[in-house]
Amino acid sequence: MTREKKSNVSVIVDSRYGTTLSLAKAIAEGAAREGAEVRLLRVDIEEPEFSVDTERADFVAAQQEYHNLPRASADDLQWADGIIWGSPTRYGLMSTPLRAFIDEVAPLWRAGALIGKVGAVFTSTGGMHSGNEMTLMSLMMPFMQHGMIVLGVPHSEPALIKTRKGGAPYGASAVTGFDGTLGVDENELTIAATLGARVARVSSQIEAEPASVDVAAASAKA
Ligand SMILES: Cc1cc2nc3c(=O)[nH]c(=O)nc-3n(C[C@H](O)[C@H](O)[C@H](O)COP(=O)(O)O)c2cc1C
Repeated sequence: MTREKKSNVSVIVDSRYGTTLSLAKAIAEGAAREGAEVRLLRVDIEEPEFSVDTERADFVAAQQEYHNLPRASADDLQWADGIIWGSPTRYGLMSTPLRAFIDEVAPLWRAGALIGKVGAVFTSTGGMHSGNEMTLMSLMMPFMQHGMIVLGVPHSEPALIKTRKGGAPYGASAVTGFDGTLGVDENELTIAATLGARVARVSSQIEAEPASVDVAAASAKA
């Protein structure tokens, strides 16, 4: 069954130097362009900061902006029709802070509360072939466990053909160079906005499926 309503989209990001945050903002803008109500949210950064260069100017600027974002909660996931989360690549996988948030909302998994919602992912890597797509895949797996509908970016987006850095059919991404100097380019931002718009559009049309707790209650009654 389909419906037509304004969708709610939660964009959840971890970022140190600001490049994943730039993608998150482009995703949020794309979703808002489609009329969605958007929450742009952060997770807690609790890992030791020995892994990043805290002297870098882009780190200092990004952290100020990052910590001004509201902290994501389980409520933000329940409220959302579409959930888009992303982190920098860490050893070819998602980051520990985002993973910790995903573990924290495990009660939603037990309740089946996210079944039928739409999900999509994004990341930023230093290198071109050092985990960009693998991180996108790792970010998708929890969505599949939650019973969600995972979206990528279709090749009808011309920037997906033009890009010489990040951006994939599997999600939005940036390739920043190991010293960060490549930054995020226009194609990567365009692909990110398209992903946000697509999640907003599709999630506004899908009727929510019953949570598994409701299914369990119904079968207990039968
Ligand atoms: C501990 C650590 C591990 C990393 N692992 C990878 C990696 O496996 N592959 C890669 O391309 N970049 C890796 N990077 C680089 C970051 O993913 C890259 O700088 C990213 O663009 C940063 O995103 P941000 O600007 O949102 O913080 C790593 C960085 C750190 C600090």
